[in-house]
Amino acid sequence: MDQKEIALLGGTQGIGRQCLLLMLIKGLKVRVLARNPSMLSSLNEKYSHLLTIVKGDATREEDVAKLIAPSVDHVLCALGARLNEPTTIIESGVNNALKAMKKLDKEMRFVMVTSNGVLEAGVNWFYDNIMKKHLLNHFYDDMTRAEKALKQLTENSKISYAIVRPPQLIDAPATLELIHGEGEYYPHGTHLVTREDVGAFMIECLFNENLTKGNREFNLNTTKVLETKIDNMQTLKSIMPYPKYLMIRLFIFSVMTGIGSLSAFALYKIKSLLFPSIDISKIISSWLIKSLESNK
Ligand SMILES: NC(=O)c1ccc[n+]([C@@H]2O[C@H](COP(=O)([O-])OP(=O)(O)OC[C@H]3O[C@@H](n4cnc5c(N)ncnc54)[C@H](OP(=O)(O)O)[C@@H]3O)[C@@H](O)[C@H]2O)c1
Repeated sequence: MDQKEIALLGGTQGIGRQCLLLMLIKGLKVRVLARNPSMLSSLNEKYSHLLTIVKGDATREEDVAKLIAPSVDHVLCALGARLNEPTTIIESGVNNALKAMKKLDKEMRFVMVTSNGVLEAGVNWFYDNIMKKHLLNHFYDDMTRAEKALKQLTENSKISYAIVRPPQLIDAPATLELIHGEGEYYPHGTHLVTREDVGAFMIECLFNENLTKGNREFNLNTTKVLETKIDNMQTLKSIMPYPKYLMIRLFIFSVMTGIGSLSAFALYKIKSLLFPSIDISKIISSWLIKSLESNK
């Protein structure tokens, strides 16, 4: 790889941190924007010859301008919000980064991660109608606006872009088994990929000749079945305010209790119609007595 300098937004956690690790291993120079630079202090000790940490916030134009110094060749953006509340983190980050890049007036590439949920193509009914519209809506609004802003701001400029849209993410070792479709095409797969793989793909969008040409939109998936299972309730807990999470849990519990009671009642009615002579209470009590006696 060339000795390039890359500016990175969102490099303290998640995909961005994976990008950072991979770039440092490759010997690339990296400038990282960090709200809290102490999150990178262990890396800074070992890689001070490659790493420059710029303290700042992606929503502040002057901080992003400091990050994207004249020495920077390309920009990676792996920003993300943690709570599903109205936000403009990614959109502001894109606007500020593009403003700073345009001032440098040179050929550069901007690679940004959003999500396959930005696409019109449906995943399944529950995801499209419940998750996307009600539980992840603010994330998607921000990502959709950010993509739009990127396309507008790069028109007739020296900046080319790659948008990388992964499905659901997990923290697990890289597999290097990602597949991708382009534009609106979303390839079939297991819908679960690792942050490390996505980070590696984003770097490839800067250096792999098959992925670096022109403005591209990559929709990622994999056919590999990852062992890690997603805990959906844990995911909800981490992306929404606790009272909202609690309401949803109570709602699910009430629905399940309701379905359980109705099923029991329906079974009892069916039994009464088909086998009126069978007395269920007698069967249960004799079974209980037998099991108690066998445990003596
Ligand atoms: N979770 C999924 O399954 C999934 C699926 C598809 C796509 N995505 C999207 O992929 C992206 C990356 O996801 P991830 O889970 O890897 O992200 P993440 O772990 O939440 O990391 C987000 C990064 O953005 C930084 N950041 C947030 N606001 C910032 C600000 N105002 N200024 C500077 N830095 C800021 C965070 O820094 P701090 O350390 O300072 O917080 C962190 O480094 C997100 O946009 C996410 O919505 C997620």
